[in-house]
Amino acid sequence: MATTKDTPAAREQGDKSAVKASDLAAATAKDGVLFDVRDLEVYFPIHEGFFKSMVSTEKKFVKAVDHISFQVMQGEILALVGESGCGKTTTGRTMLRLEEPTGGHILYKGLPVEKFTSSTLHAYRRKAQIIFQDPYNSINPKQTIFDIVAEPLEVNNVTSSEREKEDRVIKAISEAGLRPATEYLYRYPHELSGGQRQRVCIAGATVLEPDVIVADEPVASLDVSIRNDILKLMVEQKEKMGVTYIFITHDLSLAWAISDRIAVMYLGRIVEIGETLEVVSNPQHPYTRALISVIPVPDPLAKREHVILKGETPNPVDIPSGCRFHPRCPDAIDACKETDPPEKLIGGDHYAACLRIGE
Ligand SMILES: Nc1ncnc2c1ncn2[C@@H]1O[C@H](COP(=O)(O)OP(=O)(O)OP(=O)(O)O)[C@@H](O)[C@H]1O
Ligand SMILES: [Mg+2]
Repeated sequence: MATTKDTPAAREQGDKSAVKASDLAAATAKDGVLFDVRDLEVYFPIHEGFFKSMVSTEKKFVKAVDHISFQVMQGEILALVGESGCGKTTTGRTMLRLEEPTGGHILYKGLPVEKFTSSTLHAYRRKAQIIFQDPYNSINPKQTIFDIVAEPLEVNNVTSSEREKEDRVIKAISEAGLRPATEYLYRYPHELSGGQRQRVCIAGATVLEPDVIVADEPVASLDVSIRNDILKLMVEQKEKMGVTYIFITHDLSLAWAISDRIAVMYLGRIVEIGETLEVVSNPQHPYTRALISVIPVPDPLAKREHVILKGETPNPVDIPSGCRFHPRCPDAIDACKETDPPEKLIGGDHYAACLRIGE
């Protein structure tokens, strides 16, 4: 297992390849590529009991992200879609270096994130924000909305006067759709609805004027009726403010609704990636087809074949041989048990990894 880890001390002590904060400030997204993720691996060691570790010499890992490569283009919404446990959150967190990779590289504007010094990382955290599924737990119920949204500015020491801070907070709250913002400033989270609270979280992320926001299941805990409003807000912020979104969801219909491109993940791998309309109208991987087949359609009488997958998602500690999807795949043939399928180009920037493509 290749390792990209180096200790913070080593990074700080004259490592010539270390990326300084000034490098980050000067970097641009060349050819529009904001992130270039190459062969990323994130394995978590399993700590077995004393007796087990005595009798077994083999170290075991949860293979949360198992060698994935993809790019995120500046100003797009890229959806990471797949079932629970397939590695979506780990991918997003590792891109922000909230998790350390065990292998591969993440280039942000061409700079290797694993080589960021602590001050570069500090600056990076302003540019790359994350919002979570549960707006109830991710904000402090004892703070006013003003204090919640102002906190990132204070922690990062980015405003030079109270006036500037106030202006930026009001702008972020207003842009998050809570208008007039002044009516919300001195209210508390419990006075707001779930949707409004999620807007506060979004304002807390955008107040720093980030380049990218990882939105991890941002509407999963919200009523269906208000989901659309939050999704629309993300699209609006992408279009007006140029914010790039990495939108994590288990629900392909949500990805379809707002994303520019979709990456379908299965058990730590990307099995299909491409432009949203292309992936949804011309899915090549049986797993993508299964996800699409269960999306509700407006006409209940429309004839559709639902692909019901066999069995549960396998354990990411014991990944099946060959194609990891083969035990659940309706189209599997014998070769699928042995050969791990390489990514095949379907056309444009649409790729899928299935042995049976092109048969
Ligand atoms: N810190 C950790 N230590 C050990 N295992 C972890 C850790 N974080 C995640 N995992 C495991 O890695 C796998 C991928 O988890 P991850 O949270 O990335 O999946 P996910 O696609 O976001 O799932 P969900 O839809 O449930 O949020 C899971 O098996 C999970 O249990
Ligand atoms: Mg998750």
